[in-house]
Amino acid sequence: MTDMTTPAAVIVDATAYAQAVEDAVKASAAYYADGTSPLDDETYDRFVRGIAAWEADHPDEVLPDSPTGKVAGGSVEGDVPHTVAMLSLDNVFSPEEFTAWTSSLARRIGHDVACFSVEPKLDGLAIAARYTRGHLDRLITRGDGTAGEDVSHAIGTIEGLPRELAEPVTVEVRGEVLMTTAQFEHANEVRTVHGGQPFANPRGAAAGTLRARERAYTVPMTFFGYGLLPRPDTEPELAGRLGELAHSDLMARAVGLGVNTTATTAVPGITVATVDQVLARVQEIAVLRAELPFGIDGIVIKADRAADQQAAGSGSRAPRWAIAYKLPAVEKITRLLQVEWNVGRTGIIAPRAVLEPVTIDGATITYATLHNPADITRRDLRLGDHVMVHRAGDVIPRIEAPVASLRTGEEQAIVFPEVCPRCGSAIDTSEQRWRCTNGRNCHLVAALSYAAGRDQLDIEGLGHTRVVQLVETGLVADLADLFTLTRDQLLGLERMGATSTDNLLAALGTAKDQPLSRVLCALGVRGTGRSMSRRIARYFATMDHVRAADAETMQQVEGIGPEKAPSIVAELAELTPLIDKLATAGVNMTEPGATPPAVATTDAADDC
Ligand code: IVH
Repeated sequence: MTDMTTPAAVIVDATAYAQAVEDAVKASAAYYADGTSPLDDETYDRFVRGIAAWEADHPDEVLPDSPTGKVAGGSVEGDVPHTVAMLSLDNVFSPEEFTAWTSSLARRIGHDVACFSVEPKLDGLAIAARYTRGHLDRLITRGDGTAGEDVSHAIGTIEGLPRELAEPVTVEVRGEVLMTTAQFEHANEVRTVHGGQPFANPRGAAAGTLRARERAYTVPMTFFGYGLLPRPDTEPELAGRLGELAHSDLMARAVGLGVNTTATTAVPGITVATVDQVLARVQEIAVLRAELPFGIDGIVIKADRAADQQAAGSGSRAPRWAIAYKLPAVEKITRLLQVEWNVGRTGIIAPRAVLEPVTIDGATITYATLHNPADITRRDLRLGDHVMVHRAGDVIPRIEAPVASLRTGEEQAIVFPEVCPRCGSAIDTSEQRWRCTNGRNCHLVAALSYAAGRDQLDIEGLGHTRVVQLVETGLVADLADLFTLTRDQLLGLERMGATSTDNLLAALGTAKDQPLSRVLCALGVRGTGRSMSRRIARYFATMDHVRAADAETMQQVEGIGPEKAPSIVAELAELTPLIDKLATAGVNMTEPGATPPAVATTDAADDC
C-alpha cells in the first residue's frame, strides 16, 4: 500500500539499499532500547517504504535484517515466549485503500463483514499482562512478536492495569502502555532533576521507563487494553467463552474485570456496520486527535465477530481481520534556532521558539510555544538542539523535548531576559508566567487596540494606527484617557480632519454606554474573554459587586474554578485605579437587566 502523505525514500542501488537497512535497523533498535531514535516516525516510514520498493524490484537481494521482514525490536536471549504471537498490523492510508482492504477481506471469508469495531491506534508499546486467578504476575513486552522481555518490575506503575482483577480468572490482557501528555511532562521533569537526559516524546519515554530497572524514582504510565485471551491454564469453560466472544464483547468483559480501555476516553471504541460508517468514525477520531491527552497515530479497524476473525486468519506478521488506518505524522524533528521574548497586552513576557522550518501534515512550522521560562528549564532546552515538535490540527505547535541523543556539545544555554525586552522595566518573576512590572502600560498599544475591538468596547475609527498616534503623542497613557480626549486635542493630530474627529468622539461617547460585560472584557483580565466577562457581569450586575468579590464568591460564576478565581480577583484589585478613572470619565459600570446577588447576612441572634 502506498502512503499518500509521505513519499518513499528513493534508493538507487544496492549500496544505498544496504545503508538504508542499516540506518533503519539502528533507529529501530535505539527506539526500542531507550526511545531515543534519531529518526522521527515519518522519516522512518519513508525509509521503510523506500526499502520495500527496492526489495520489490530486487527480491533476490533482500537482506535478512531488513525492517520489512520482521517485527521491529528483535528478541534477545532470556525473553519470555508468547503463547499466541503478538502480531503487528498492516496499514492503509486512504478511504480507497481501506475500501479495497474490506473487499479483499470479504472475498476471503466469503461474505461482507457485518460488524466492524473502530478504535484509536494508541501510540505506545504493546504489552501482555498475565493474570493468574485474578492476580497480575507477569508483564511481557512484544519483543519480536514470538517472545518478549519480562518487565514485571513495572507492575504497580501502570495506571489502568490493576494488580487484582475483579474476578479470580486466569487470562492474558493485551494492550498499549503509553504516557499521557501530563505523565510525559512529569517524567521528563523528574528525569532531568535526577541528572538524566530528557526523552524526546511520550512514546520514547514509555519505552525507556518500561524497561528501566534500577531507577531511584518511578513515574506513572497508562495502560489501555485492546485484547483479552485465554492462557494455557485458563479455566476451560472461560477459555471456550472468550474464544467465541466478539471483540467488542471482550472489551466490555475487560472493563468488567477492572482493566482500562479506550471506553473511558473521548474516543471510545465503537462498532458499526458499514464501510461508510467506519470512514465517518475515522474522520471524527482524526478531528478529536488534537485535543486528546495521549498520542494516537491512527485508527484500528477490526472485524468484530469471532467467526469472521477465525475465517480470515492471520499472516506471519499481521492478522487479516484487522487493519491500521494511519493518520499523518504530527511529530517531526527540527532544530531550535532562537528564543524570542514577546510582551503581550497584559504585560506577560512569553518565550517563543524559532525553529528551522519543518513541514508537519502539510503546514510549515517556524514557531512553537514555550509557555513560560520554567517550561524551558523543565525541558532542558538549549539553542541549537534538535527538538521534537508536535502539531495536531489547528492547535499551536509545541516542542515536546530536545532529542538528547543528537546533541553535539555545541548547543548554547538559552538566555533569559533580565529586564522587560519591550520597555526595560523590571520583570516580576514571582509567578510561572513572567510579567513586566509596567503591566498593561508596557504594551499600551496592544492593550488599547484590544479594548477598542469589536468584542470589547467596539470603538469605530480607533484602529491600530490611530492608537499608536495617540500613545506616541502622549495624549493617552491608559484606557481611561481615551474618554477625556477633547475635540481640540484630536484636531491637533496629523491626518485628523473635523469629520474623523467628530466620528471618533461620537464612537467614544457610545462606548461609554456599553454594558459592564464589555467594559470588563476591555480590561483584558487574564482568563476572562468575551463569554466569561458576560457571565461575571450577569452574576454581579455592577462593577462594585465584582470588585467586592473575594476568590470564593468569584467561584460562584459558572466556569470559574479555584485556580482561576484568585488570579481574577488579584488582577481586578490591581486594576482599581484604572477602573476608578474609567468610572470618573463616565464609563458605564452596570449590566442592564442583571440583578446583584443577595448578600448573605449574619443573624446576630443565631450564635450557633
Ligand atoms: S490490535 C492482532 N488495537 O499497534 C492485533 N493494536 O502497529 C494486534 N496498537 O502491535 C493489535 N492501538 O501495539 C490493536 N486499538 C489497538 C491498538 C493497537 C495500538 C498497536 C499495537 C500493535 C501496533 C501495530
